[in-house]
Amino acid sequence: MLPPAGHLLSLLLVIGTGGSVPSHPASPQGCYVAEEAGERTFRCSQAGLSAVPTGIPNDTRKLYLDANQLVTVPAGAFQHLPVLEELDLSHNILAHLSGAAFQGLAGTLRHLDLSANQLASVPVEAFMGLQIQVNLSANPWRCDCALQEVLRQVRLAPGTGTGIVCGPGARPDLVGQEFLPLAGEEELCGAGRGGAQRSTDVALLVTMGGWLVLVVAYLVHYVWQNRDESRRPLKRVRMLPVRSEDSSILSTVV
Ligand SMILES: *[C@@H]1O[C@H](CO)[C@@H](O)[C@H](O)[C@H]1NC(C)=O
Ligand SMILES: *[C@@H]1O[C@H](CO)[C@@H](O)[C@H](O)[C@H]1NC(C)=O
Repeated sequence: MLPPAGHLLSLLLVIGTGGSVPSHPASPQGCYVAEEAGERTFRCSQAGLSAVPTGIPNDTRKLYLDANQLVTVPAGAFQHLPVLEELDLSHNILAHLSGAAFQGLAGTLRHLDLSANQLASVPVEAFMGLQIQVNLSANPWRCDCALQEVLRQVRLAPGTGTGIVCGPGARPDLVGQEFLPLAGEEELCGAGRGGAQRSTDVALLVTMGGWLVLVVAYLVHYVWQNRDESRRPLKRVRMLPVRSEDSSILSTVV
């Protein structure tokens, strides 16, 4: 653990460098290791971080990165933490998660807090294969098909459902509404973007069907014509030997 003066100095250093984390392989600035209920815990709350720090010990089970200025979680950000069970990313300014943000945590991660951020949408791939309870409260959700799919992948932490409210990027009639009652009533992946996708698929299929009919019609026409034409040369071919026979007969006769 750092002494208070060093702690403050490192915090100032972080702020002084525009919030970027100096890439010291040792302990990330403003963070400390603790043993909480027998679990190895790494606390970086309110450490002025603008990126996921490096140097987090690989035996960390609980990781607190809350109340920082994280904007994004890049692919594989925690993949070097093979026993991570709990991850708190709440009270940041997260607007984007990589589809592979939690890559490598499928076997271990149980609790994920993404509450109080700036998330309008998260890629459903980010949660594939994870057995987690997640807190998605207090974000400006777009309340679309993507969010509906995410909610089919994860379990919500108890009591956090009412905190999922549609933000200004949502459909005008949804802004300010709780998402869960809406998602229960409406199939957003069928009627919205997904529906449009499906109708373009149908249009494509019809167009391809039309082309197929044209090609088949042409082939039938071609074969029909060639059948007529192929008879004539055949007749000629058949006539030729007759003539040559005739001429050979003639020649033998002569
Ligand atoms: C952490 O890394 C060390 C050295 O690289 C390794 O020996 C140890 O097994 C790792 N611990 C875990 C929990 O993966
Ligand atoms: C979920 O997030 C909200 C907002 O940050 C917080 O008030 C609440 O306590 C959290 N609930 C759980 C169960 O983590």
